[in-house]
Amino acid sequence: MKNVKAIIFDAYGTLFDVNSAAEKCKDKIGDKWEPFANFWRTTQLEYTWLRSLMGRHKDFWQITEDSLDKSMKTFNIDSSMKNELLNLYKILSPYKEVPETLKALKEKKFKLAILSNGTPSLLNELVKSNNLENLFDDIFSIEEVGVYKPNSKVYDIPVKKYKIEKNEVAFLSANTWDVSGGGNYGYQSIWVNRNNNIFDNLDFKANIEIKDLSGLLNKF
Ligand code: LAC
Repeated sequence: MKNVKAIIFDAYGTLFDVNSAAEKCKDKIGDKWEPFANFWRTTQLEYTWLRSLMGRHKDFWQITEDSLDKSMKTFNIDSSMKNELLNLYKILSPYKEVPETLKALKEKKFKLAILSNGTPSLLNELVKSNNLENLFDDIFSIEEVGVYKPNSKVYDIPVKKYKIEKNEVAFLSANTWDVSGGGNYGYQSIWVNRNNNIFDNLDFKANIEIKDLSGLLNKF
């Protein structure tokens, strides 16, 4: 990958394991913890898209709670678990290779940043609780533009801040639609395909596909 001036990471699902909150409660939730976690995530994302289309913005924390309420009802999970799940969502675990890979990229003097749907306070807490706060130059939140990914106003945020060209950004996401969003916008987009999934048909194919973040180290 050539002419990269900033490496920008999606947060949820890319750096941090969105299923880890439900997984930490699997003794209480039982075998359905994984379909429940997937449903919660899908509903959360649908709410971001729907709210952006309706022009009725609510921040990501409120959307996370709204989607949890629906998911707990759908999976018959006792409402007494709600606060525990929400508190765990604030301190999601990173995927295991993330800290080491970020450190190695930082040593190569790349500008590293997060660009996420999360609120600034959620993202700051997430990064802090995992001791990653010194590795990022910036944490960009969609709250700055009041609309969710994949609106191009979101992908504009780091380009404007760094005064660089769109294609000088290497953007990483595990979310296929976010890779397409960033790629259609003009980023060089990298798909982190952890689970051997099929890519979307949204007029963009990832510039590079890697299995996890460690696959990044030999790409620059
Ligand atoms: C984010 C969602 C897309 O962090 O995972 O922006």
